[in-house]
Amino acid sequence: MTRFTVNGERREFNGDETMPLLWYLREEAGTKGVKYGCGIAQCGACTVHVNGAAIRSCVTPVSSVDGAEITTIEGLADGENLHPVQQAWIEEDVPQCGYCQAGQIMAVAALLENNPEPSDEDINNGVTNICRCGTYFRLRKAIHRAAALKKGGA
Ligand code: FES
Ligand code: FES
Repeated sequence: MTRFTVNGERREFNGDETMPLLWYLREEAGTKGVKYGCGIAQCGACTVHVNGAAIRSCVTPVSSVDGAEITTIEGLADGENLHPVQQAWIEEDVPQCGYCQAGQIMAVAALLENNPEPSDEDINNGVTNICRCGTYFRLRKAIHRAAALKKGGA
């Protein structure tokens, strides 16, 4: 049996532990903000946090998250208060179709925890999620805005 939490809620899983975490989250936890894109760890649409680190849930077996705290986009806000990355995304009007955006936001939220003032190069290296709509210019602006919001300066 694998035990873990999803957005603070305790969960137990008794099924096939080789199942990708992505399937568990979408089919059993109901957190459908996490998306399936490529299935091979390339696009980042499936990004969630495991113990605060951004991981690609399409290639993460459920067996590997025993005891972990998992956060999805549904659990990122603090109650009614949006996470600074979510707030910056609204202010910079980032999404186009939106498909990649939950994964982008989760990747950026994890980046800013480790690097509160990322340079453009840090962003290029730290957020490798693919956006087929090409929102990269707004993404980058919003990441800098989120960093400022997080510091309380915007
Ligand atoms: S669906 Fe996981 S990286 Fe593309
Ligand atoms: S907004 Fe459409 S894939 Fe990124």
